[in-house]
Amino acid sequence: MKKILVTGGNGQLGTELRNLSEKSSARWFFSDVVERDGVETILLDITDREAVKDFVLDKDIDVIINCAAYTNVEGAEDHFELCDRLNRAAPEILGSVAALNDALLIQISTDFIFDGTASTPIREDAPARPLSVYGKTKYAGELAVASSGCKYMIFRTAWLYSPYGKNFVKTMMKLTAEKEQIKVVADQVGTPTSALTLARLIYDIVENDKFKESGTWHLTDEGVASWYDFAYAVGQLCGHSCDVQPCHTEDFPQKATRPHYSVLDKSKVKNDFGFPIPYWRDALSTCIRRIEKGE
Ligand SMILES: NC(=O)c1ccc[n+]([C@@H]2O[C@H](COP(=O)([O-])OP(=O)(O)OC[C@H]3O[C@@H](n4cnc5c(N)ncnc54)[C@H](OP(=O)(O)O)[C@@H]3O)[C@@H](O)[C@H]2O)c1
Repeated sequence: MKKILVTGGNGQLGTELRNLSEKSSARWFFSDVVERDGVETILLDITDREAVKDFVLDKDIDVIINCAAYTNVEGAEDHFELCDRLNRAAPEILGSVAALNDALLIQISTDFIFDGTASTPIREDAPARPLSVYGKTKYAGELAVASSGCKYMIFRTAWLYSPYGKNFVKTMMKLTAEKEQIKVVADQVGTPTSALTLARLIYDIVENDKFKESGTWHLTDEGVASWYDFAYAVGQLCGHSCDVQPCHTEDFPQKATRPHYSVLDKSKVKNDFGFPIPYWRDALSTCIRRIEKGE
């Protein structure tokens, strides 16, 4: 029986994978650093090389899906060491341990490895030039995985949300319910992406043995939006009357510099896996209904 380890199993992507895995014929192990009520969690710190090695070799793991990361983009500017340990050093550990057991490592990366100067959707081979600590450490993580000697798949995604944890959708659902007016940045453009879309792709690849060769793929939902469009859609889909107004990046000074344009080209993922990708607003609507139902 195929054995799969999901690290960061209690995060957004990890939880969507956990839901999907209920139908699987493989054996799935979900690990994290903190237990969550009512959810079986294997405690495994992915920065601990010996612990990772012991677990992977002992359980004879075939696929590692690394959903763990330091994902607080603002916090990363003040916590380089912690961010680097989780986003660069840990993927290197996972890659070298995967190589020892001839396992496949699936690593998740980000649109924040690009500098935002493109004006058409960005392909996998475009040069990386991250602007923030988060982006720099995630790109270093990609390089560490690629040179670790294991079989690997890197999926770059963007603007992830889900019914779980903290995310932009849940924040905007609350703000548009409570405030008469909010201002949201309209000059950063990308694609909101349901963690469920990415989880479905990864599940399909793992469940149906679709790995052929190591490489990098882009996957977001379809379409293009600014954070303003995204917030406006959340308010509208919730039926909230809040007046959502556009503003400029300079109106909300932040420590981390974000790319102004980070729409990813998804041709490669469509060609290689024939995967159906939902339009971002449709995926958002589905997620909001799930949150409203209390998921
Ligand atoms: N969120 C986005 O908008 C976005 C966009 C593009 C790419 N991505 C990438 O997509 C992937 C999944 O993101 P996500 O939003 O699902 O992340 P998430 O919800 O923040 O989940 C990450 C999980 O990793 C856990 N973790 C932290 N330190 C760990 C350690 N030392 N060992 C094991 N687990 C640890 C976290 O636990 P604690 O919560 O207790 O720290 C959390 O449960 C990440 O690689 C991220 O960089 C995310």
